[in-house]
Order: sequence, then C-alpha cells, then structure tokens
Amino acid sequence: MLTSNIIETERLKLVTFDPAQHLNDAYVAWLNDPDVVRYSEQRHKSHTLESCAAFTESFNDNPSHLWAIMQKTDNRHIGNIHADIDPHNGIADVAILLGARDTWDQGYGLEAWNGVLGHLKSHEDIRKIIAGCMRSNAAMYSIMTKSGMIDDGQRQKHYFLNGKPEDIVFFALQVPS
Ligand SMILES: CC(C)(COP(=O)(O)OP(=O)(O)OC[C@H]1O[C@@H](n2cnc3c(N)ncnc32)[C@H](O)[C@@H]1OP(=O)(O)O)[C@@H](O)C(=O)NCCC(=O)NCCS
Repeated sequence: MLTSNIIETERLKLVTFDPAQHLNDAYVAWLNDPDVVRYSEQRHKSHTLESCAAFTESFNDNPSHLWAIMQKTDNRHIGNIHADIDPHNGIADVAILLGARDTWDQGYGLEAWNGVLGHLKSHEDIRKIIAGCMRSNAAMYSIMTKSGMIDDGQRQKHYFLNGKPEDIVFFALQVPS
C-alpha cells in the first residue's frame, strides 16, 4: 500500500530501511540504551542483531513500512520511524525512535514525524493516522500535538514507569483532517 519513495524534509531523508545498510551494532545499541527506551516497553528486553533483524523483517511483504531517518548533511542514520498499516480499516499507526541521543531536542523528531504524516495523508487508502505514548514522554506528546493530531483517548495507569502507574495517551488525525 505504501510506496517506498524517499521522503525528504528540510534536513532529513527518510529512506526504506535496508538491513544491509542500517542494521548494525549501532542500531542494536540504541535499543539497549536505557535513556532511548525509557518510555518504551522495549526497555524490558535485551536486544541483539537477531532480534532487531526479526523486527525489521516483519515489514517485508505487507503494507506496513519502516524508514531509516538519515541526516542529509552527512548521510548519518539517526533513527527509525515506521507506520503499521491496518488495511482493513484504513489505519496507520506511527512510531518513531531517534537512537542518536546527540540529535535530540533539535526538531528532528517533529520534522521526521511531519514528513511521514504528509506521506500517509497522500494515500487514499488511509483514513486515520494514530499514535500513542506514555504521558510523561513530553517530547513525544509535543510532537503529536504539534503535528496537528488530536486527542484520541487514553488508558489510565496502564503501564508501570519507575514503579508508578502511568497513563498511555493516544492522538489521531482523520484524513482528510
Ligand atoms: C521522542 C523523540 C522522537 C523526540 O525527538 P526530538 O527530535 O528530540 O524532538 P524535537 O526536537 O522534535 O522536539 C519536539 C518537542 O519536544 C520538546 N522536547 C524535546 N526534548 C524534550 C525533553 N527531553 N523534555 C521535554 N520536552 C522535550 C521540544 O522542545 C519540542 O517541543 P516544542 O516544539 O513545544 O518546544 C526522541 O526523543 C526519541 O526518539 N526518544 C526515544 C524514543 C521515544 O521515546 N519514542 C517515542 C515512543 S512512543
């Protein structure tokens, strides 16, 4: 359903994830970095090249799509963003991970997010774009609201975060919005 066209933003290129180019020890290290996975259920797991390969292979031969986020200036791979597509209901569920912590808080997350949302909006098969995060994930919360997504509900005290119950908040965009 999704084309593999490169998505270009001002400072980024989002390219179809290519294991030969993007699956390496640096990527595995992102998933094993407690700061990167602080708000993710991935923090409960230990990641290896094999487990990451299994995740990236899950995007083969189905309508979902995984992009590597590349900085245009030096072609550096700084993270990934993916859209899980539910073709029966026309829903795209988007999630992002910037593994290179030195790139945080410079607007790259919002830029990649807006790039993918723009791409998804142009697909006539997609009528709703959804995302969610732990309420304490202030950067992700801000990205979802700044991209124009609106409140789509919550699951109260759903997960444990640092030993305390934590809400999951959901945001969504109807297409056309
Ligand atoms: C969440 C993530 C994508 C944010 O990307 P980023 O490039 O650092 O975010 P941006 O620079 O685009 O900033 C987006 C907003 O968050 C704010 N922000 C950034 N880092 C923040 C922080 N640590 N605490 C609070 N707000 C923060 C920014 O100020 C900006 O808000 P504003 O425009 O209102 O000022 C990135 O930190 C990341 O990948 N984290 C690990 C994985 C993760 O949590 N993914 C989401 C799981 S659902």
